[in-house]
Amino acid sequence: MKDKLMIDSLFTDTLLSGGVVAFPTETVYGLGADAANLEAIKKIYELKGRPADNPLIVHIAELSQWSSFASEITDDALKLARAFWPGPLAIILKKKPEVLDVITAGLDSVAVRMPDHPLALELIKKTMPLAAPSANLSGRPSPTKAAHVEADFGHSVLVLDGGRTKVGLESTVIDLSSGRPVILRPGFIGKEDIEQVLGKSVFYASGSTPGQTPRSPGQKYSHYKPEAQVSWLKTETPGRFEENTLYLMQYASAAGKNVITYGGNLTLMARELYDRFRQADTDGFSKIKVAPLAAFTGQAVYPALINRINKAAGQG
Ligand code: TXA
Ligand code: MG
Repeated sequence: MKDKLMIDSLFTDTLLSGGVVAFPTETVYGLGADAANLEAIKKIYELKGRPADNPLIVHIAELSQWSSFASEITDDALKLARAFWPGPLAIILKKKPEVLDVITAGLDSVAVRMPDHPLALELIKKTMPLAAPSANLSGRPSPTKAAHVEADFGHSVLVLDGGRTKVGLESTVIDLSSGRPVILRPGFIGKEDIEQVLGKSVFYASGSTPGQTPRSPGQKYSHYKPEAQVSWLKTETPGRFEENTLYLMQYASAAGKNVITYGGNLTLMARELYDRFRQADTDGFSKIKVAPLAAFTGQAVYPALINRINKAAGQG
């Protein structure tokens, strides 16, 4: 991926002239536009049907670009960036006054991350920092391959195809803009990973774990939803397997086209969760049932999976 000619100038020209481009990251595909161009960013909200009070993450390719957005890069923020960037962690700091309100939804803070994908990094280096939400219609599961973006937007959005994304769930969002570090959205980088780097306690915001009221604007909206109805199985295996249902399970007690088994590999489950959600719709399943994941609490991705499945199920 060292070849600097890999990205067709169509993509860079589109961004440079105020257009919108979908691009791959290690988490999910993003729908990017020039973070300094108001009209360009408005197009993102229009295309997605995204509520105006839900702020966007700014994607950068070099640490030096951060200071155009954050008013002060704190010691904790630098420690996390050095440990995890490029990578699936968005860091919220107090914003500079000149950062567009359309990015921050009027908040006094801004979320920034450096994605760990060669195409994303090259695209940003050749153009500018990109404001980018996930490249799905608002409320739909985030896209983990180019075909998902095309399914939601048809040919109205140019897609830079980088294959399947590696992580499959959106980045961890951590708020460092007030006194104590707070995780607003759990992701592949876990609370314990962050605590180890910071040498202090990190908290979950209400709403990022089950049964609480959200604090991050994005967490109050219905999310990650396929057409099929998502719910948790009460027990590890159902009494009876129904034909119209796709089962996502840790252990198979039955084989079949509609039973997907992970054997405790939550990383794999995270990677393909949204693809399974979308595939269920394509294949005509009316329900998706997920077996309990409680036995695997040690893995960093566990709270992120619970959070996304709960939201898809309309709980929390
Ligand atoms: O992995 C990701 O983060 C992907 C890829 C494309 O980078 N992006 C993504 O963006 O998931 P989006 O817009 O779907 O989610 C951004 C989340 C939302 O929940 C939003 O409310 C929150 O970050 N957010 C952004 N800026 C914020 C701020 N200043 N304060 C609180 N929450 C913020
Ligand atoms: Mg999103």
